[in-house]
Amino acid sequence: MSNATVATQGFTDIMDEIEALRRDRKAVILAHYYQDPDVQDLADYIGDSLQLARAARDTDAEVILFCGVHFMAETAKILNPGRIVIVPDMAAGCSLADAAPAARVAAWKAKHPGAALVSYINCSAGVKAASDIICTSSNAVRVIESIPADQPILFCPDKNLGRYLMKQTGRDMELWPGSCIVHETFSEQKLVQLKVRYPAAKVICHPECEPNILQHADHIGSTSSLLSYATTTPDADTFIVGTEPGILHQMQLAAPSRTFLPLPGMDETCACNECPHMRRNTLEKIRDALRDLSPRIEMDEGLRLSALAPMERMMALG
Ligand code: 13P
Ligand code: SF4
Repeated sequence: MSNATVATQGFTDIMDEIEALRRDRKAVILAHYYQDPDVQDLADYIGDSLQLARAARDTDAEVILFCGVHFMAETAKILNPGRIVIVPDMAAGCSLADAAPAARVAAWKAKHPGAALVSYINCSAGVKAASDIICTSSNAVRVIESIPADQPILFCPDKNLGRYLMKQTGRDMELWPGSCIVHETFSEQKLVQLKVRYPAAKVICHPECEPNILQHADHIGSTSSLLSYATTTPDADTFIVGTEPGILHQMQLAAPSRTFLPLPGMDETCACNECPHMRRNTLEKIRDALRDLSPRIEMDEGLRLSALAPMERMMALG
């Protein structure tokens, strides 16, 4: 038997195992757009942070298997405490969430009485609990605009998204100095080289990118917004994509005749534009998590309720 046949057989076996376990466990599999294509292909639901939070809140499955990173699974537990929430790998974190320890954020807030603390959903439950309202990259402008014009705003933890929002809304905000290790890696020099090679291409970027990258963008938005623009705009058929390249899988499926060029990082020797946390999730770990119902997200009920209130304020904005 050839190596390729063995590999294909192994792949089919593991997919069959996952299928059987998903049925037995009455589980729903949620996956973010940055997951490996194989993981996206087996998910019941693929989406951006906001879409996945809504899917987690609304599911009646007994088990939620969250293929993303820790803060996303934690958000699912906050919104749907009656369900078992499991993850393929508990070590799949996020540099933004890590940049903002809850105790330091709470101390920052305490120094600014009267200010509203708006936290990007890429943060821990502890930071959510200290926040007045949560936002995602899909609804951040609406969330900022919901804060009374005369109330000062603290924005945490992504300084790049915060800076972008200040431009979009005209609101001054004090920014926490966090950033995403993936979106800060993109090379402006390589972006300009790609623009020269593909002059008709549109540049699309996630707002977590640095300002020197965002200044070249024709369209800026959440992962779902980038997907929708790149696959439906009549203005171009080639796109330079300034976000984690996992998103290219859905772009290629939705618009196979279009060309999507991932923006490379500054370091040629690594795949630094891939999120090392998102990519920890593998088919084997998914099978094991469904089999063992572990690793499992557990949360103190008092913390959950405190984190739920600012999430619900966000959800109420639509
Ligand atoms: P989205 O909410 O746009 O999917 O972004 C999540 C994320 O982690 C981006 O790095
Ligand atoms: Fe966090 Fe960046 Fe990975 Fe998104 S891409 S999960 S912000 S480290």
